[in-house]
Amino acid sequence: MIAGVLGRATRALTTPLLPDDYLAFVNPLWSLRTPRARVVATRPVGPATTELTLRTGVAWRGHRPGQHVGLGVDLGGRRHWRTYSITSAPTDEHLTVSVTAVVDGSVSTHLARIARPGDLLGLGPAAGGFTADGPLLMISGGSGITPMLGLLRGGAVADAVLVHSGRGGHVHADDLADLPATVHRHDSTGGHLRPADLDDLVPDWRSRTMLVCGPAGMLDAFSTAATDAGVPCVVERFRPPEPVATGTGGTVTFTTSGVVATADAVTPLLRAGEDAGALLPSGCRMGICHTCVGRLSAGAVRNLHTGELETADEGDVIVRTCVSAAAGDCVVDL
Ligand SMILES: Cc1cc2nc3c(=O)[nH]c(=O)nc-3n(C[C@H](O)[C@H](O)[C@H](O)COP(=O)(O)OP(=O)(O)OC[C@H]3O[C@@H](n4cnc5c(N)ncnc54)[C@H](O)[C@@H]3O)c2cc1C
Ligand code: FES
Repeated sequence: MIAGVLGRATRALTTPLLPDDYLAFVNPLWSLRTPRARVVATRPVGPATTELTLRTGVAWRGHRPGQHVGLGVDLGGRRHWRTYSITSAPTDEHLTVSVTAVVDGSVSTHLARIARPGDLLGLGPAAGGFTADGPLLMISGGSGITPMLGLLRGGAVADAVLVHSGRGGHVHADDLADLPATVHRHDSTGGHLRPADLDDLVPDWRSRTMLVCGPAGMLDAFSTAATDAGVPCVVERFRPPEPVATGTGGTVTFTTSGVVATADAVTPLLRAGEDAGALLPSGCRMGICHTCVGRLSAGAVRNLHTGELETADEGDVIVRTCVSAAAGDCVVDL
């Protein structure tokens, strides 16, 4: 009761701002409503990869091994959200992620090359569940090592063999020896790691669940090999599959944001809206987490993964803006 009276009194005194606004003003990490993180250290862990150590704010609710997190970066006056695998254990004092700068990649280049201790980042909730039970065979390529680090450091795996492939220097090369797993390094300069290599490297691979994260070609080759061998396989993708789409696109009206964007038939509504200045919710950005959903109140969109058309005429149609593109002019309530 006393807390209620105090809360009402504080609200009365601080209106129109909320007490949380004052807390966030004093220290952005104290906000209970808006999760944020501050960069406390950066460390190069590969030719184009930097590990960021982050102090999380009080609104952070923790994570499980194998999960990823959305980081928000302010660039050009707008906040851009991208997803990164968590590489620290849930019990660690700080959260770590490792970001590889991709060519023409705005957020990855900023985080890997420009971010410095003291910088403040937006922080989404932990999401995803890249994991499996029983003996594991982990196969990673390049920056695909990150979810494996999170799983192994998090103590979630009792029996694991890790085959990590990279060109020349390996991402996180210095950290591989400390992992609770049998580790094989493969140098892909002389040729890609192939499923046929597994019989020599991991003779009992058919009795293990396969976890794969790396370039698209690696994901395809090893998930196909697993299916052929009747081995369970879990894949973590950093990029969505190539879009299936036809048509000319159209204009997309975001009613809540008051933004109108022009989009072609292969650009996700989320990207088109953000490019036009809308602040839109997003998480995984590849159709998994449903953070980005909005009601389609007019027109039609096409699912970029399946090619299926969804039209507002069908009734209460909720679309994932990260995997839907305009199929003519459309209106989304976001
Ligand atoms: C579940 C999940 C976990 C992830 N974990 C990590 C991680 O631990 N470390 C990490 O570095 N990244 C990770 N990513 C990828 C990350 O979210 C971004 O997509 C990546 O950093 C590129 O963002 P950008 O803004 O720099 O590029 P964008 O501006 O989005 O794209 C610029 C160009 O780069 C291409 N591109 C986009 N992503 C990639 C990519 N992954 N590889 C090569 N080219 C790309 C685009 O097609 C485009 O041509 C993860 C993604 C997901 C979905
Ligand atoms: S952002 Fe995760 S489903 Fe769209």
